[in-house]
Amino acid sequence: MKVVDKKNLYHKSNLEIDQIFGFKDYALDLPDYPSDIFYTDGLTSAEALYSDYQDLLQIHTFLEEKKIKSFCDLGAGIGRAKILFDSLKSSFQSYSLEFVQQRHEEGKRVHKENQLSHEEGFIQCNLLTDPIPKCECYFIYLPVGEVLIKTMEKIKNLTLEEKCLIIAIESHGDLLSYLEKTHRHLSLRDRIPLSAKRHTEFIHIYEYQPKDNPSPLESDIFNHLDNRTNKDQPLRINFSEELSFWELWKKLRKRDEFQVLVEDQNGQWLADLKDSQFGIQPSTLETQYPQRIIPLSEIKAFVRAPLSWQELIRKRRNKEDGPLGEIRKLIVFPSPQVEFSRGQKRELETAWDWELFTTLGV
Ligand SMILES: C[S@@+](CC[C@H](N)C(=O)[O-])C[C@H]1O[C@@H](n2cnc3c(N)ncnc32)[C@H](O)[C@@H]1O
Repeated sequence: MKVVDKKNLYHKSNLEIDQIFGFKDYALDLPDYPSDIFYTDGLTSAEALYSDYQDLLQIHTFLEEKKIKSFCDLGAGIGRAKILFDSLKSSFQSYSLEFVQQRHEEGKRVHKENQLSHEEGFIQCNLLTDPIPKCECYFIYLPVGEVLIKTMEKIKNLTLEEKCLIIAIESHGDLLSYLEKTHRHLSLRDRIPLSAKRHTEFIHIYEYQPKDNPSPLESDIFNHLDNRTNKDQPLRINFSEELSFWELWKKLRKRDEFQVLVEDQNGQWLADLKDSQFGIQPSTLETQYPQRIIPLSEIKAFVRAPLSWQELIRKRRNKEDGPLGEIRKLIVFPSPQVEFSRGQKRELETAWDWELFTTLGV
C-alpha cells in the first residue's frame, strides 16, 4: 500500500499531487454530466470542480484532531479526499459518493493502483434517490438545489438524536446562507482559511444536531395538514421568523397546493410555491409563476387558495397563452385581479374572502 508523507504534500500544487497519485490528465476536466439535475452550471474545470489538496490537508488535520471516526464526501468527484485520506493512513473511514460514472471510476482506479485500503468506501450513487452512510462528518461542496436539499434531509434523518459535523465549502455564493438559514441546530464550530479561490475565504465547519426539528409550531402545522382530509379548504399559514419560513417551505413546496402571499406597495398577490427556489440574493425566494425574486420581508404567509382560484393557478403553471398573454400575478388585494404578461390587468369576479380561511401558525 502506498503511504504518503503529509509533510511532502504541503506547498505542492494540485497538478503535482494528482500526478503523485497517478490521475490521468483527462480525468481532471471531465465534462459535466448532461442533465440539469446534476452539476451542470459551468464548473467544468478541475480548479472549480474539485477541492484543493491543501484544503483537504487542513480538513484531514481537523478530523484527526477531533478524533472523527467516519467521513463522507457527498458528491465526491474523482475522490480526491478519500484517496488523500486513505493514503495518509487516517484513523477514520472515508466514503466517496459520486454519481458521474467516469469520475467515480477514475477515483476507484487510482485508489486501487495506489493499493489503498477501504475500496468499499467508493460508492457510485445518486444523492437524489439513494441512501447515504451514517457518518460522523459530511463534506459538502455542492450548489443549492434539489440535490443539496434532499441530501440535507438524509443527513437529518440519520442524525436525529445525535450530532454530526458538516464541513462546507461555498460553491456559488448561496450554500452557507442556505445551510444557516434553513437548518435549526446547525452551529458554526470552526472556520479554516481556504487555499482555493472560492466565494468565501473559509472552510466552514458546523455541528448539526437536528433533535428538536421541526419546532412545535411547525409540528402542529404538519400534523394538521397530515390529518386533514379536506384539501379544498382554504388555508393560511403564518410564520414568525425566517427559519420557520424555510422549514415550512421545504415541506410545503412539495405538496403542489400552496402559494405565498406577497405584500408590496401595490397590494397583495399570490406567487406559486411550485418550482420555487432559495434565492441567491440574501433572504429572497425565487419563484417561477410568476418569475420573480421576492424579498422574504414581503412574504406574509403560505396560502392554499379557494377552489374557485385553482383553475387560474393551473393556467399560470402551464403558461397558457391567452389574448392578453400568460398569467403573471394573481392579485387578491385591493381587489381580485389577474395581471397578464402584456402588462394589462383584468378584474375577477371570484372574490377573495379571508373569512373562509382556516388560519394556522402565529
Ligand atoms: C463541486 S464537485 C465537488 C467534488 C468533491 N466533493 C471535491 O470537493 O473535490 C460536486 C460533485 O457532486 C456530484 N454530484 C452532483 N449531483 C449528484 C448526485 N445527484 N448524486 C451524486 N453526486 C452528484 C457532481 O458530479 C460533482 O462531481
